[in-house]
Amino acid sequence: MKILAIETSCDDTSVAVVENGNHVLSSIVSSQIDLHSKYGGVVPEVAARAHIQNIIPALEEALDEAKTKITNINFIAVTKGPGLIGSLIVGVNTARVIALLNKKPLVSLHHTEGHIYANWLEKSGKNCPKFPLICLTVSGGHTNIIYMRKHLDYHIIGKTLDDSAGEAFDKVAKMLGLDYPGGPIISSCAMTGNEKAYHFPRVDLTQKPIRNNDGFMEESVESLDFSFSGLKTAVLREVRILEATNSLSKNKINDIAASFQVCANDILVRNTIRAARNYGIKTVLLSGGVAANEQLREMLAAAISKLDNVDFYFPASKFCTDNAAMIGAAAYQRILINDFSDPLKLIPDSGLKLIYAS
Ligand SMILES: Nc1ncnc2c1ncn2[C@@H]1O[C@H](COP(=O)(O)OP(=O)(O)OP(=O)(O)O)[C@@H](O)[C@H]1O
Ligand SMILES: [Mg+2]
Repeated sequence: MKILAIETSCDDTSVAVVENGNHVLSSIVSSQIDLHSKYGGVVPEVAARAHIQNIIPALEEALDEAKTKITNINFIAVTKGPGLIGSLIVGVNTARVIALLNKKPLVSLHHTEGHIYANWLEKSGKNCPKFPLICLTVSGGHTNIIYMRKHLDYHIIGKTLDDSAGEAFDKVAKMLGLDYPGGPIISSCAMTGNEKAYHFPRVDLTQKPIRNNDGFMEESVESLDFSFSGLKTAVLREVRILEATNSLSKNKINDIAASFQVCANDILVRNTIRAARNYGIKTVLLSGGVAANEQLREMLAAAISKLDNVDFYFPASKFCTDNAAMIGAAAYQRILINDFSDPLKLIPDSGLKLIYAS
């Protein structure tokens, strides 16, 4: 079964051909980073225009690389949301037209389920993740711990109350005068920095306060939620002190990058391990752009190895950041339960919620 998958939710124009939900025949990602980096972030209008220019060449390249033709494709899959509406419209309308003209069934997906299912790419049989599982999804727009008892069954058991982990990496990079996207640059600066140079706060929401209208705490509840805004502010305070004394040297930038990175990763690992213990799972998955972070992978692997009979999976780096192959992997599961969209009616939803449809 060949699935042609399209993903245009943010600033990557991606088209892939995926066979049986796991075998990637082609994965084209036309990046717009050069267009957006001078603005320090993604400009929605610029992204939408670039998608229009890039989508047909990416489509042709994906079919060529997969050595196939549209007539040999069985299903069309596309990200319906969430994301930038102008960007989503380009992908969704392209997918609708291809599905209609070629009389192919159309599947629409949530972007985050794509990130989760990147963990099934290039795996089969016994090598696939086993349920029940939790997935730490750490990306530019989300930081969630998702509990899944079976395929397509999503329960968000932990989430960020403010910034996502990816946003924190991007904003700290900006404070340090580094390029966008910040994640890969922070981690490369961190390699030569001293992670003990600064001790940034590890915000712990284990007992999340429930406050009354006057702001007083009424009770506290068990929580697996995250918060990165305090960490971000703590970094900003150090940067301002160093700037005021003209001492924000390359070495200091590396030290701050290393100290920030280990702090953010500590927070992510701590809650994930708590969730793994509380939910009696067989597998921990890591997904989203920040899953490309080497230190996060190593820290999670070390912590999970201390749990009994829990496997750990993360996608290949090229499938951590946005790509269409992951959408093809998730689409396969929706095809198996006959969950299709009407190509005459499908519209993108920039605020789409991750819900289970069965
Ligand atoms: N090696 C890395 N270390 C840390 N962060 C990284 C690394 N590589 C990429 N990132 C971060 O990943 C994020 C991009 O991930 P992704 O493409 O999944 O986000 P998005 O699609 O914009 O958001 P979402 O998936 O939530 O809609 C950016 O914030 C980037 O800085
Ligand atoms: Mg993404």
